[in-house]
Amino acid sequence: MKRTLVSGIKPSGRLHIGNYFGAVKSWLELQDSYNCIFGIYDLHALTQGPKPADLKKAVFEAALDYLAAGIDMDKSILMLQSLVPEHAELAWILDTITPISWLERVPTFKDKSKQFADNLNMGLLNYPALMAADILLYKAVIVPVGEDQLPHIELAREIARAFNNKYGETFPEPMHKVNHAGARIMSLTYPERKMEKSLGEKNYIALSDSPEIIAKKLASAPTDSGKNASASKSPGVANLFELLDIFSKDAVIGGFEKAYRDKVISYADLKQQLATDIAAYFESFRAKRIQLAKKPDAVWKILREGSARAKKIAEKNLREVKEKVGLL
Ligand code: TYM
Repeated sequence: MKRTLVSGIKPSGRLHIGNYFGAVKSWLELQDSYNCIFGIYDLHALTQGPKPADLKKAVFEAALDYLAAGIDMDKSILMLQSLVPEHAELAWILDTITPISWLERVPTFKDKSKQFADNLNMGLLNYPALMAADILLYKAVIVPVGEDQLPHIELAREIARAFNNKYGETFPEPMHKVNHAGARIMSLTYPERKMEKSLGEKNYIALSDSPEIIAKKLASAPTDSGKNASASKSPGVANLFELLDIFSKDAVIGGFEKAYRDKVISYADLKQQLATDIAAYFESFRAKRIQLAKKPDAVWKILREGSARAKKIAEKNLREVKEKVGLL
């Protein structure tokens, strides 16, 4: 029997290449080996206080991205968190066995405390407990994510252990899976930070960006003079070479490495080549997404049907949990 894999995203706009190489690519590779449940975690997105219309749009964009990337409904379940209220219910039960100190020490909470200082809501503190519920509700054994999510998965393991110790063996302890090639894709504009939407449009390349937009975004990425080539590249240049490693052919990478060492590199040429290679990589994705976007009703239907399938599993597992803790 296949074991269960859970992963997903917090909808806040279109998927970017960090999401793709950090997570989505390995989901596609694992669809045949696991029972996969991929979530659009809109309850998590609420912690950032989005406008209602923006949240709805972001959910739709996420569904389009998932489907265009190749999430296959015959193999996997695609679900919307808020359509399966069992997530929030299990999160509450898990809250009651999770010490506040575990949540306070999560690095992402410390970052968010600064980023959302004017809206430091309970949801931000509680975020990893809800994420643990997303995973444990389906008794998942594996969670493929980018590096930034590792503290959350570690906490999910601790919460599973705490529950099992108190109420008897119920949840497997989920293992993370990190894709080494894309574990942490860096921002274009702030190459010492990870690529993320909240840093602004120019810092990320969305899978659905047109070739022109990709070229424009790359053009404004920081470099250096190219004349004082040293073994350790400046962060901006190192980032461009990392992207070349992912998207370009070996001969192309070798050519630019040599030009860098010889101090004759043209970063304009490098960026042009990279833009062409990234655009080509996602060409069929873009075409598929444009077609899907023409059929919004069909996309919402897929999401509703996937959520109904997820709900069946969630109901069964939550019933077991409730019995164990003395509810019902
Ligand atoms: P989110 O929406 O921020 O990101 C979705 C996935 O993309 C990965 N990722 C990256 N990987 C490499 N480089 C980057 N620059 C980069 N940016 C993002 C993330 O690591 C993630 O795997 N908390 C989660 C959503 C969530 C979830 C879950 C995930 C809620 N419940 C249950 C797995 C299981 C989040 O905000 O991901």
